[in-house]
Amino acid sequence: MNTLRKIVDWFESRLQLRDSLWPVMRHPIPAEVSTRKGWWYVFGSMTMTFFVLQVVTGICLALDYEPTAEGAYASLEYLNYEAPVGWLLRAMHYYSASAMVVMLVVHMTQVFLMGAFKYPRELTWMAGVGLMVLTLGLAFTGQVLRFDGDAYWGAGVAVSALGRVPAAGPSLVHLVLGGEYIGGHTLSRFFALHVFVLPALLVAVLSLHLYLVVKRGISEPPDPNRPVVPERYDEEYSRLLECGVPFFPHAFYRDGVACAIGVLIVVGLAVVFGPKGPMAPADPTLIQAEPRPDWYFLPLFALAALAPPSMETLLLLGLPALGIGVLLAVPLIAGKGQRSATRRPFAVVCVTVSFVCLSVLGWYGKTSPWSPQMDAWSGEPIPRRIVARLSPLELQGAVVFQHKCCRNCHALDGRGGKRGPDLTSVGTRLNYDAMVRQVVQGGGNMPTYGQKLNRAEIDALVAFLVALRPEGVPPANLPAAASSANSEIAQPGIPQSP
Ligand code: HEC
Repeated sequence: MNTLRKIVDWFESRLQLRDSLWPVMRHPIPAEVSTRKGWWYVFGSMTMTFFVLQVVTGICLALDYEPTAEGAYASLEYLNYEAPVGWLLRAMHYYSASAMVVMLVVHMTQVFLMGAFKYPRELTWMAGVGLMVLTLGLAFTGQVLRFDGDAYWGAGVAVSALGRVPAAGPSLVHLVLGGEYIGGHTLSRFFALHVFVLPALLVAVLSLHLYLVVKRGISEPPDPNRPVVPERYDEEYSRLLECGVPFFPHAFYRDGVACAIGVLIVVGLAVVFGPKGPMAPADPTLIQAEPRPDWYFLPLFALAALAPPSMETLLLLGLPALGIGVLLAVPLIAGKGQRSATRRPFAVVCVTVSFVCLSVLGWYGKTSPWSPQMDAWSGEPIPRRIVARLSPLELQGAVVFQHKCCRNCHALDGRGGKRGPDLTSVGTRLNYDAMVRQVVQGGGNMPTYGQKLNRAEIDALVAFLVALRPEGVPPANLPAAASSANSEIAQPGIPQSP
């Protein structure tokens, strides 16, 4: 016992926690918070606890995760099936992320309805909005790291939204993807964002948030008879604290209990439902994937899908920006006056309308077959003009062309994807051998089809490609090197609306 005491004293005489941390833990809070009403105050701590859980499980996952296009999928499978408790870590990371988003929303709603963002806590709220943006950023980048088919196309949809930013769009896409298309370099960027940049920013903003919470004190439960008057508030609040109680243990134990329950629920969900995905590996040649984002982004996704295509850009870019702007402005617009929800009908209406909209849109996003308009994945038949003069072998090739969805990336007669060159007259540009090579080996941004087609299919397909030239023009006899298709790639990223 004496030795223990000595060890503690040794540290204490150096760290001096007794007069730094201890006063923080014992800082006074309004007495009312230590009554049953105190349970309203646990949501922030819960959000933070889930973040800590994310960091811990995330570090463990990063030990085995491989942020490369070739390795990502296999490393997730390894975590799921081979690494001891790998599956549990992946599942906990997923459910804890969801829990973090849920608690964040609950916390913000509670703070909003209880008017806790009003003077002098405006900045605390704004830092909180920053935390929300960073959390959603983490959620999105994390989802891409799963790098299965859905994640691949999901990122594609998001990136093509980014590509619509006026003027800066293409450069932004290049910055995010690390190139012209989604691949290994994209994954490195998302990995860096997900494990270094965003968490570091989040910790920084969180520190400011917590500093403000401790410095300006937590708000007392709202009282309809005591509206916030900035000139008087500080004095009233310090009078309230004179008969206040220390944070530890009065509020601390509630936080502890709530967080423990939260963690248990996450572990329970993880054990029962297991890890999410990965679905089929990311493969640009498969479009059966549903480019549906994880649930937090479903409302926005549905909105883009429901709205007429002409409004997509506005909605995908404008709405999030508007939402964040409004949230930031809230304490500036309504920074004083009534705090009690019973006297703020407009605030209650806002919350109700927001939640109804988000749920309805989320539901549509979950169930609807729509995806934002992407003419690129064209199931459209090959133009009659072309098919009409084909030989039987070339017709077979046309069928292969159709079934392998080459038009997701290649247009015919100007209709179809823009990721690869228009193939309407490819027969005049490339000779037979060059086309076989292109189809079998892919390259320059095109997937390899060697494994996916048999010899007969390749023969037919290439015969069809050779036939793609204006009537009367002989087939090309150029060596492959002479064709420079790259310059024709119109848009970076994923197929976009023309
Ligand atoms: C994921 C998008 C994508 C898909 C799917 C795709 N391609 Fe390509 N393709 C490209 C890109 C990008 C290029 C340009 C390659 C380069 O820059 O070297 C290309 C080039 C070509 C070329 C050479 C064109 C030229 O003018 O040089 C041919 C021929 C071709 N693809 C045929 C096909 C066929 C046939 C299919 C279906 C089996 C197909 N592609 C599927 C992206 C795609």
